[in-house]
Amino acid sequence: MSKKNQTLGEFIIENQQAFPYSSGELSRLINSIRLAAKVVNHEVNKAGLVDITGAVGDTNIQGEEQQKLDVYANQKFIQTLTNREIVCGIASEENDEYITIQGHNKDHKNKYVVLMDPLDGSSNIDVNVSVGTIFSVYRRVTPIGTPVTMEDFLQPGNLQVAAGYIIYGTSTMLVYTTGHGVNGFTLNPAIGTYYLSHPNMKFSEDGNIYSVNEGNYAQFPRGVKDYIKYCQAEEDDRPYTSRYIGSLVSDIHRNMIKGGIYIYPGSSKYPDGKLRLLYECNPMAFIAEQAGGKASNGFKRIMDIKPTELHERVPFFCGSKNMVEKAEECMRNAK
Ligand code: AHG
Ligand code: MN
Ligand code: MN
Ligand code: MN
Repeated sequence: MSKKNQTLGEFIIENQQAFPYSSGELSRLINSIRLAAKVVNHEVNKAGLVDITGAVGDTNIQGEEQQKLDVYANQKFIQTLTNREIVCGIASEENDEYITIQGHNKDHKNKYVVLMDPLDGSSNIDVNVSVGTIFSVYRRVTPIGTPVTMEDFLQPGNLQVAAGYIIYGTSTMLVYTTGHGVNGFTLNPAIGTYYLSHPNMKFSEDGNIYSVNEGNYAQFPRGVKDYIKYCQAEEDDRPYTSRYIGSLVSDIHRNMIKGGIYIYPGSSKYPDGKLRLLYECNPMAFIAEQAGGKASNGFKRIMDIKPTELHERVPFFCGSKNMVEKAEECMRNAK
């Protein structure tokens, strides 16, 4: 049973004993993520003082203007994961192709692949609003000892062995799951230690916060427009409150703590939605389901979608179970 204020290290050791078959590599993977998060946090916290804000002048495969912090965070997570003999491959929002990691003996013996969004909410960096990092972990499916292949990355979300996020907000938190519930750890920056501050995090079945970029309302599918009108109606427990930060990690984190739904639907600009299935929707869906919530594309469970491309996008409905189901009902009825 998790004890509040346990350190992350103690929590990992205690839970490591609970999984006798895992050889500790997954624990070491989480440890390397927490280290990289401390390094990135240090840079995020002084972004305005050093030359780390603003754009680098390149665009990534997403067609987005890469921010300096996108590139910095990407480099730090790749470097930390590469140096620790745990992963055989990394896919990132900021890299067109996946990265093969041979391991020190160049024998491709490592068992895990990591897919990540190194800096989520880049549009918030220059305006001092919360940003995050999102990660998703799978066991490789191709033979150990051979180079990792695209097949190892294009696994459905229901095969994830771990997923989580770091939120660089008023405090820095690491929130993750290995399939046994969701736990949140807050970093004490003075000593560089994470403490278990939010044990066994849960989405309430109902909520009264809806998060969507209503600037795109005119382009939304009928079902989403119907659901937004439902949220705004003056009936029963409504109108709900509209909260949208523009950083998926921050919006989902708030909605998990307070109850709510996050929607990024398809629009004329992004027919399949803006969010990427592999390193935004799947990890956040794993977290949501482990916390008793729900995540779909409006019709189908996110984690059952078979990916076909590294950077593919999907419409995303995620949060309190009853709110997602009401939105899905609106999508079905609008068909
Ligand atoms: P990223 O910064 O990693 O590219 O992700 C940004 C995403 C997500 O974090 C956020 O919820 C959404 O984009 C905001 O999109 P809009 O600005 O189109 O609302
Ligand atoms: Mn981006
Ligand atoms: Mn993102
Ligand atoms: Mn990003």
